[in-house]
Amino acid sequence: MTSSTRVLFVCLGNICRSPLAEAIFIDMINRRGIADQFIVDSCGTGGWHAGNRADPRSIQVGAKNGIKVLSIARKFDKSIDPDAFDLFIAMDSANQSDLITLGVEPSKIRKMRSFDPNTPDGPDVPDPYYGGDNGFDKVYDMLLDSCEGLVQST
Ligand code: 4NP
Repeated sequence: MTSSTRVLFVCLGNICRSPLAEAIFIDMINRRGIADQFIVDSCGTGGWHAGNRADPRSIQVGAKNGIKVLSIARKFDKSIDPDAFDLFIAMDSANQSDLITLGVEPSKIRKMRSFDPNTPDGPDVPDPYYGGDNGFDKVYDMLLDSCEGLVQST
């Protein structure tokens, strides 16, 4: 029996980028018939939006592309999460360093765009929260390419 890879997508608020990344990744592994190989979740390093649905702009850009963004925001739990996942996918460099501060083994952390074949140097997925809807379209495209690379690497 092979065990599942436990993947946690992480951003700051868990309402814009990481819930969208989680939804895209889940859709991809479902369509490929490999969902049983993964346990997937997302969270924020901050807890301001805990208990809330994703930002309406993330839900909308997902819907436009046939993806349901269903997750409810939660804050990273430093007493449980560091050992509960195999792979921590940080949306940006700040999330990455915050995860180390919160006790995650650095070798388990990857930046999302390190899986994007267009950007192997792994720049940030920019935070679209304070921008317009266009920012969410750009983030969607980055996350789609990165999820493709992630699926192929696991
Ligand atoms: P996210 O975007 O990290 O992609 O979910 C943000 C959402 C909310 C806030 C910051 C970033 N905020 O400061 O409330």
